[in-house]
Amino acid sequence: MISFENVGLRYGMGPEILRDVSFDIPERSFQFLTGPSGAGKTTLLRLLFMSLRPTRGLITIFGKDRAQVTRHDLPEIRRRIGIVFQDFRLLEHMTTWENVALPLRVRGRDEASYASDVTELLKWVGLGDRMHVMPQVLSGGEKQRVAIARALIEQPDILLADEPTGNVDPPMAHRLLRLFIELNRSGTAVLIATHDLGLMDQVEARRMVLENGHLVTHD
Ligand SMILES: Nc1ncnc2c1ncn2[C@@H]1O[C@H](COP(=O)(O)OP(=O)(O)O)[C@@H](O)[C@H]1O
Ligand SMILES: [Mg+2]
Repeated sequence: MISFENVGLRYGMGPEILRDVSFDIPERSFQFLTGPSGAGKTTLLRLLFMSLRPTRGLITIFGKDRAQVTRHDLPEIRRRIGIVFQDFRLLEHMTTWENVALPLRVRGRDEASYASDVTELLKWVGLGDRMHVMPQVLSGGEKQRVAIARALIEQPDILLADEPTGNVDPPMAHRLLRLFIELNRSGTAVLIATHDLGLMDQVEARRMVLENGHLVTHD
């Protein structure tokens, strides 16, 4: 679905953060992206989500050369990529339900066509009783699940999650991991950026390890 060939990335005139990074993300795959803090995990996710351009190398996303993707094409391609940011990015003046429905509302879809999907997805992430509250009253684990539901509402082909267990206790981390595994079993590719070794030990999955700008994949 997505492939990187000898990708390099530097911010401005700074040093190369990623060097000769090559990998593929196959359909329906499950992988962890790991490496120490500052290794470039978030940077790699931003390249995958096309919010950054590589400074060299080739990125192919759903058969398209990333370099040929125009601003106009971005929304259509991004709809196939769900992303959960480390800081959630929920809108504080909207309820849980409205936050999850937002991507569809922005597209001008009629609420009647998606209302039950939003409710069902919120139940699936375990927030059936938190649908009509504002984000301020949610715990870290609850906010994380709202962000996951919002990333999934358009049924993307791949879900990217940046340190999804960074702010939750181990039982909640385990619960989130079960959600990602269930999602993957239903056919969505999943990539989780994490430095949480305990999390990775709970599941057999590909590990993409970043160190000193290089990426090594362990299948
Ligand atoms: N917008 C930016 N401008 C300049 N340097 C950045 C920027 N974002 C990240 N960096 C640097 O890139 C490196 C990798 O950061 P990041 O991708 O956030 O790593 P990780 O997510 O693995 O902790 C770090 O040295 C960081 O300081
Ligand atoms: Mg990061």
